Amino acid sequence: MRPSIIALLAALTASPSLAADGARTFATVCRGCHAEASTPMAPTLKGVFAAKVAGRADFKYSPALTAKAGVWTAERLDAFLKSPAAFAPGTRMMISVSNPADRAAVIAYLQTLN
Ligand code: HEC
Repeated sequence: MRPSIIALLAALTASPSLAADGARTFATVCRGCHAEASTPMAPTLKGVFAAKVAGRADFKYSPALTAKAGVWTAERLDAFLKSPAAFAPGTRMMISVSNPADRAAVIAYLQTLN
Protein backbone atom coordinates (compact mmCIF):
# COMPACT_ATOMS: atom_id res chain seq x y z
CA MET A 1 0.00 0.00 0.00
CA ARG A 2 1.12 3.51 -0.72
CA PRO A 3 1.94 5.58 2.35
CA SER A 4 -0.85 8.06 1.60
CA ILE A 5 -3.42 5.28 1.64
CA ILE A 6 -2.06 3.96 4.93
CA ALA A 7 -2.28 7.45 6.37
CA LEU A 8 -5.86 7.77 5.15
CA LEU A 9 -6.86 4.42 6.67
CA ALA A 10 -5.24 5.41 9.94
CA ALA A 11 -7.15 8.68 9.90
CA LEU A 12 -10.44 6.91 9.23
CA THR A 13 -9.85 4.38 12.00
CA ALA A 14 -9.02 7.15 14.42
CA SER A 15 -11.95 9.27 13.23
CA PRO A 16 -14.14 9.85 16.27
CA SER A 17 -17.83 9.14 16.18
CA LEU A 18 -20.38 11.83 15.47
CA ALA A 19 -21.19 12.12 19.16
CA ALA A 20 -17.52 12.62 19.99
CA ASP A 21 -17.36 15.44 17.45
CA GLY A 22 -20.43 16.86 19.11
CA ALA A 23 -18.81 16.59 22.53
CA ARG A 24 -15.98 18.81 21.33
CA THR A 25 -18.35 21.40 19.90
CA PHE A 26 -20.39 21.25 23.09
CA ALA A 27 -17.30 21.83 25.22
CA THR A 28 -16.31 24.88 23.17
CA VAL A 29 -19.65 26.45 22.38
CA CYS A 30 -22.25 25.31 24.90
CA ARG A 31 -20.65 24.38 28.21
CA GLY A 32 -19.90 27.99 29.15
CA CYS A 33 -23.61 28.33 29.84
CA HIS A 34 -24.93 24.76 30.09
CA ALA A 35 -23.28 23.07 33.06
CA GLU A 36 -23.73 19.72 34.84
CA ALA A 37 -26.50 21.28 36.88
CA SER A 38 -28.83 24.14 36.00
CA THR A 39 -27.60 27.61 36.92
CA PRO A 40 -29.37 30.98 36.75
CA MET A 41 -27.63 31.36 33.37
CA ALA A 42 -28.92 28.22 31.67
CA PRO A 43 -30.62 24.88 32.32
CA THR A 44 -28.53 21.73 32.38
CA LEU A 45 -28.95 19.73 29.17
CA LYS A 46 -28.77 16.35 30.89
CA GLY A 47 -31.60 14.22 29.56
CA VAL A 48 -32.85 17.03 27.33
CA PHE A 49 -33.26 14.77 24.29
CA ALA A 50 -36.90 13.62 24.09
CA ALA A 51 -37.69 15.64 27.22
CA LYS A 52 -40.43 18.25 27.34
CA VAL A 53 -39.35 21.59 25.87
CA ALA A 54 -38.61 24.01 28.72
CA GLY A 55 -39.62 21.21 31.08
CA ARG A 56 -37.13 21.49 33.94
CA ALA A 57 -38.38 22.68 37.32
CA ASP A 58 -34.93 23.96 38.33
CA PHE A 59 -34.68 26.67 35.68
CA LYS A 60 -36.77 29.75 34.97
CA TYR A 61 -37.30 29.64 31.19
CA SER A 62 -38.41 32.54 29.05
CA PRO A 63 -42.13 32.76 28.34
CA ALA A 64 -41.21 32.18 24.68
CA LEU A 65 -39.73 28.75 25.29
CA THR A 66 -42.25 27.86 27.99
CA ALA A 67 -45.02 28.46 25.45
CA LYS A 68 -43.69 25.67 23.23
CA ALA A 69 -45.53 22.40 23.56
CA GLY A 70 -44.11 18.93 23.04
CA VAL A 71 -40.71 17.36 23.38
CA TRP A 72 -37.23 17.88 21.95
CA THR A 73 -36.86 15.72 18.86
CA ALA A 74 -33.77 15.78 16.65
CA GLU A 75 -35.70 17.90 14.13
CA ARG A 76 -36.76 20.46 16.71
CA LEU A 77 -33.30 20.64 18.25
CA ASP A 78 -31.92 21.23 14.78
CA ALA A 79 -34.37 24.07 14.17
CA PHE A 80 -33.67 25.60 17.60
CA LEU A 81 -29.90 25.43 17.24
CA LYS A 82 -30.05 26.78 13.70
CA SER A 83 -31.95 29.85 14.88
CA PRO A 84 -33.20 30.00 18.46
CA ALA A 85 -34.97 33.28 17.75
CA ALA A 86 -36.83 31.83 14.76
CA PHE A 87 -37.83 28.69 16.68
CA ALA A 88 -38.99 30.61 19.76
CA PRO A 89 -39.08 34.39 19.23
CA GLY A 90 -38.09 35.97 22.54
CA THR A 91 -35.99 33.04 23.79
CA ARG A 92 -33.11 33.90 26.08
CA MET A 93 -30.75 31.60 24.22
CA MET A 94 -28.88 33.82 21.80
CA ILE A 95 -26.26 31.61 20.21
CA SER A 96 -26.79 29.49 17.13
CA VAL A 97 -24.87 26.78 15.28
CA SER A 98 -24.83 27.64 11.59
CA ASN A 99 -23.12 24.54 10.21
CA PRO A 100 -25.61 21.63 9.71
CA ALA A 101 -22.90 19.01 10.30
CA ASP A 102 -21.96 20.66 13.59
CA ARG A 103 -25.62 20.70 14.61
CA ALA A 104 -26.02 17.00 13.77
CA ALA A 105 -22.94 16.18 15.86
CA VAL A 106 -24.09 18.25 18.84
CA ILE A 107 -27.54 16.64 18.68
CA ALA A 108 -25.93 13.18 18.60
CA TYR A 109 -23.95 14.18 21.68
CA LEU A 110 -27.03 15.51 23.47
CA GLN A 111 -28.60 12.06 23.06
CA THR A 112 -25.77 10.61 25.13
CA LEU A 113 -26.28 13.06 28.03
CA ASN A 114 -28.33 11.34 30.68
C1 HEC B 1 -24.81 32.29 26.37
C2 HEC B 1 -25.42 31.16 27.06
C3 HEC B 1 -25.80 29.94 26.24
C4 HEC B 1 -25.02 29.22 25.37
C5 HEC B 1 -23.58 29.48 24.97
C6 HEC B 1 -25.85 28.12 24.91
N1 HEC B 1 -27.09 28.18 25.49
FE1 HEC B 1 -28.59 26.82 25.25
N2 HEC B 1 -29.78 27.92 26.46
C7 HEC B 1 -29.41 29.09 27.11
C8 HEC B 1 -30.54 29.62 27.83
C9 HEC B 1 -30.57 30.90 28.66
C10 HEC B 1 -31.59 28.73 27.61
C11 HEC B 1 -33.04 28.90 28.08
C12 HEC B 1 -33.73 29.72 27.00
C13 HEC B 1 -35.09 30.24 27.35
O1 HEC B 1 -35.58 30.06 28.47
O2 HEC B 1 -35.68 30.88 26.44
C14 HEC B 1 -31.09 27.66 26.77
C15 HEC B 1 -31.83 26.56 26.37
C16 HEC B 1 -31.35 25.52 25.62
C17 HEC B 1 -32.10 24.32 25.28
C18 HEC B 1 -33.52 24.00 25.72
C19 HEC B 1 -33.43 23.34 27.11
C20 HEC B 1 -34.76 22.86 27.68
O3 HEC B 1 -34.72 22.42 28.85
O4 HEC B 1 -35.79 22.89 27.00
C21 HEC B 1 -31.27 23.55 24.51
C22 HEC B 1 -31.60 22.21 23.90
C23 HEC B 1 -30.03 24.27 24.38
N3 HEC B 1 -30.11 25.46 25.07
C24 HEC B 1 -28.93 23.80 23.67
C25 HEC B 1 -27.72 24.48 23.56
C26 HEC B 1 -26.60 23.98 22.82
C27 HEC B 1 -26.55 22.63 22.12
C28 HEC B 1 -25.64 24.93 22.88
C29 HEC B 1 -24.28 24.93 22.20
C30 HEC B 1 -24.31 24.79 20.76
C31 HEC B 1 -26.14 26.02 23.69
N4 HEC B 1 -27.41 25.70 24.08
C32 HEC B 1 -25.43 27.15 24.03
C33 HEC B 1 -28.16 29.67 27.09
C34 HEC B 1 -27.10 29.27 26.31
